[in-house]
Amino acid sequence: MKSKYFFALVFVSTSLFAQKNEFRFSDFELSTSLNSNKQFTYSLNYLGKHIIKESAIGLDLAKPLQKLVAFNLLGLDTSEVNTTWKPIWGEQDEIRNNYKEITCHLQSINSPSILMDVQFRIFKDGIGFRYIFPKQNNLQYFIVKDELTEFHLSGDHKAFWIPGDFDTNEYMYNTTKLSEVNAMDAASKEKDIAVTSLISNQSVQTPLMLKSEDGIYINIHEAALLNYPAMNLNLDKTNYTLTSTLVPDPVGNKAYLQAPFNTPWRTIIISNKAKNILASKTILNLNEPTKLEKTDWIKPQKYMGVWWEMHIGKATWQKEGGKHGATTENTKKYLDFAAAHHFDGVLVEGWNKGWEEWFGNWREDVFDFVTPYDDYNIDYLSKYAKEKGIKLIMHHETSGAVTSYERRFDTAFRFMQLYGINTVKTGYVGKIIPRGEHHDGQWMVNHYLRVAEKTGEYKIMLDAHEPVHSTGLHRTYPNWMSNEAARGTEFNNAPTLGIVPEHQTILPFTRLMGGPMDYTPGLFHFKLNQFDSSRKQVVKSTLAKQLALYVTMYSPLQMAADLPENYLKHMDAFQFIEDVPVNWSETNIIDAEPGDFITIARRGKNTKNWFVGSITDENERISTIKLDFLEKGKKYLATIYKDGADANYDQYPESYNIEKKFVDANTSLNIKMARGGGFAISLIQQ
Ligand code: NOJ
Ligand code: CA
Repeated sequence: MKSKYFFALVFVSTSLFAQKNEFRFSDFELSTSLNSNKQFTYSLNYLGKHIIKESAIGLDLAKPLQKLVAFNLLGLDTSEVNTTWKPIWGEQDEIRNNYKEITCHLQSINSPSILMDVQFRIFKDGIGFRYIFPKQNNLQYFIVKDELTEFHLSGDHKAFWIPGDFDTNEYMYNTTKLSEVNAMDAASKEKDIAVTSLISNQSVQTPLMLKSEDGIYINIHEAALLNYPAMNLNLDKTNYTLTSTLVPDPVGNKAYLQAPFNTPWRTIIISNKAKNILASKTILNLNEPTKLEKTDWIKPQKYMGVWWEMHIGKATWQKEGGKHGATTENTKKYLDFAAAHHFDGVLVEGWNKGWEEWFGNWREDVFDFVTPYDDYNIDYLSKYAKEKGIKLIMHHETSGAVTSYERRFDTAFRFMQLYGINTVKTGYVGKIIPRGEHHDGQWMVNHYLRVAEKTGEYKIMLDAHEPVHSTGLHRTYPNWMSNEAARGTEFNNAPTLGIVPEHQTILPFTRLMGGPMDYTPGLFHFKLNQFDSSRKQVVKSTLAKQLALYVTMYSPLQMAADLPENYLKHMDAFQFIEDVPVNWSETNIIDAEPGDFITIARRGKNTKNWFVGSITDENERISTIKLDFLEKGKKYLATIYKDGADANYDQYPESYNIEKKFVDANTSLNIKMARGGGFAISLIQQ
């Protein structure tokens, strides 16, 4: 139901509108008001508690040169939506989209010709809001100097944060009170990230996960980041206010826009239960439905890769002067193993010429994306893969030379089509060309989208590494299956900080709020000196936890990252990786606490079988699971893959037990997780 009193009343008198308006929906109360300075503010209560105190909105413009901070309220529209939709792939068959929408029509007091709407949507688990610039009377072009959106928090919450940065999100998470955020200090311990452009000591990235002293979980992020730079947040510790700051371009501007336009949504997801944050579909709901008509070529996949062996020094990406990994023979070995265990794809990195000089030289045309090394017979391998019922996965490392990639990607995608390859992993390691652009700026945001659209035209599925953070765009572009955009498995191999055991209990509350992550789980060998005795790094996880990640770390592209020879030593445990689906009909977040543990159960797409994953941080714990999500009255064969009695992440990580038993909906399981451990269960209906 739409109530349009804007047009009816705007000509009468703006003073008819109260300076303060309140809107209720489910457990939320949103208030908007114009204060004595004519600032437009919003505040948000949840279950009667202040979550966001009066917070101003606004934009600082370079064109027209104007700070949009004082407004007249011309009118209000409200409406309600309650529908469901079916994702093409995902964590559940159907998603409910239920919200109340409030659009506040504002007029700049200093430049009365500028009209701007602030649009809110209140969902059952939080809100989204955005700026909309309707078609203006005499202005069309806008340049944004910065965005002045505030999130005024009610106290010194516990925060799970990474430093604000224009170029990377591959940081370790810090857990501190807001008053203890010191982004530069935290970042100074990080030596393993290729390119960083830190903002300030007080800035953090989104998704930002918070927990108040009275146990309210709050997640701040953005949805539908299109034609606009990513948002970082500046923290004022005197009043716990976060203010948006946008990633700049080389001349210091943030966004170039033409009315009518709208910004991405700013999202605040809130619950008194941590598991409801993980179950939220609000960010996805704030994205538009896909315009793709035919989507039957888009398929969730499990894949292996000629990949980890380069990271741990068994092989190299480059051919000259190295131990080339991407040879015909080695790729065949992976194809054989992957096909024998019902995988969908094999990624091959280092297949194309250029790797001798790819890193850090900041020039174009290092790669042309179509010239294989002469010991990689792509023609033969693509036919061989086809015979085996499996597909090669293409790799395009751009080395940050994005102009080069854009000139060549049509040719590169046609080359893929020629060989029947319909998935590409892209990569953006290094500083961006055009020089001065950042990974997370408007220009690059538009680039990632051009690649998503272009691959869509060629019916190619996409997985981007080193892109901007995810914001739910996979609803609109379902061939854009996954992203890295955070610290993934490769960092186990990083000489300094590596990955600590709590990392995977934080990622779903932060990075994955925006969408799937290509985390690349599945390591079965934990000392990384296997091929290079100088390597001191160890993987701080048990083997059973690596299995659990296939359930807790959602992605429709899921890698088994380790080498075939490492899997061959533990084929009974590998069975779980072989069995676990990558697409789901139902998801049940059983219990979770950011930084501590996560337990999730999911039902495989169109099957009756359930899979459970449970992980812990550096502490041992017992997880109790009621299997009441199983179909009543049916028997299931449970196979439980759990930590061995002596296992923990720094001793005997390879120790595990596999137990089989019959269970039903009345069964309750108590399973011990070792320090840095976890467990996985398959539940097959009999
Ligand atoms: C970084 C990516 O995250 C990793 O997966 C890839 O192997 C290297 N870049 C080389 O492209
Ligand atoms: Ca990376």
